Amino acid sequence: MGVQKTIAVIRGDGIGPEIVGEALRILNAVAKLYGHTFLYDDVDMGGIAIDKWGDPLPAEMLEKCLRADSVLLGAVGGKKWDGIPGDKRPEKGLLRLRAGMGVYANNRPAKIWRQLADASPLKKAIVEKGIDFLIVRELTGGIYFGARQTGEENGERYAADEMRYTEKEIRRIGRIGFETARKRRGKLCSVEKSNVLDCSRLWKKVLHELAEEYPEVTLTDMLVDNCAMQIVKDPSQFDVIVTENMFGDILSDEASMITGSIGMIPSSSLGDGTRGLYEPIHGSAPDIAGQDLANPIGTILSAAMMLKYSFDLTEEADAVENAVDRVLEQGYRTADILGSDPACIRVGCREMGERIEAALRFIAANGNGKDTTI
Ligand code: IPM
Ligand code: MG
Repeated sequence: MGVQKTIAVIRGDGIGPEIVGEALRILNAVAKLYGHTFLYDDVDMGGIAIDKWGDPLPAEMLEKCLRADSVLLGAVGGKKWDGIPGDKRPEKGLLRLRAGMGVYANNRPAKIWRQLADASPLKKAIVEKGIDFLIVRELTGGIYFGARQTGEENGERYAADEMRYTEKEIRRIGRIGFETARKRRGKLCSVEKSNVLDCSRLWKKVLHELAEEYPEVTLTDMLVDNCAMQIVKDPSQFDVIVTENMFGDILSDEASMITGSIGMIPSSSLGDGTRGLYEPIHGSAPDIAGQDLANPIGTILSAAMMLKYSFDLTEEADAVENAVDRVLEQGYRTADILGSDPACIRVGCREMGERIEAALRFIAANGNGKDTTI
């Protein structure tokens, strides 16, 4: 039976409107092909909200997101708003949205698509061992949300950002890490800096307390600097990484790059309910905005994650992922994933969306046994 869902749509800045436009094309196709109804509610956030309303996330915009069943986001920010004070920047809108929605668990898969193995900057021998892991990043705590101060003391300017975690915050994200690992290959790597930071020492303790409840999961600890090295040295060793907010921000960019392009990586952010925030992990790329050059796949796969995790529409989500797989198999590539294979065909953002829609129609009509689940 068809479902009816309201989706708050944040197109945002730079390439945001283009990539979200293609994700909506796919959601509309899913609705039509599988008999669902998706209602969209446009939300201004980021630079565009600053320009229109003088605030990166006006209260009524957050309200719209809280009323929706889920939220789809493109990207926010750009040079235009660089000079603005910290608490009024476009990114602040995103942080307030994450906190306001209570989505503390950010799930960022790093999986190599076999068609794009050549685009990875890693040596072939490393890539061939397989890259398929997931970073579970704590998203509403730590240094991103701690007390901050900028001032002057003894004739010198200073600035301070506090990193603070409560055991409750650590336990709930740790639990997501264990639950996720349990559904995958049963390996959880907790990443911290316990040789220096008190926050990390508490993190490590709480993770090990939790481990007793999950005997089927193997927990290992890794220092964040070593993890940054291991991700390029032998990414096949990882299944699920769980880490705090800022470490997760940095490691997930690194992890995405080894899969070929940051443009391919979706993400989900969830709290205790089913309402999630879904966004590609890349930024707003203002340098290529409005030129039909962006890769919409990260956003389209984010919409697929929404179907699966917020709406429980697993078959539809798999069909979207398989449609992406099919289009890559046919050789269509946006500029960022073009590589050197002369058989590949370069397409723009819109055509990539159209091709994926066509593949989805094909799959809905003919089925597709492949499982490319992310
Ligand atoms: C990300 C981004 C954001 C973050 C910025 C835009 C605030 O880099 O989602 O990874 O640091 O969380
Ligand atoms: Mg980031």
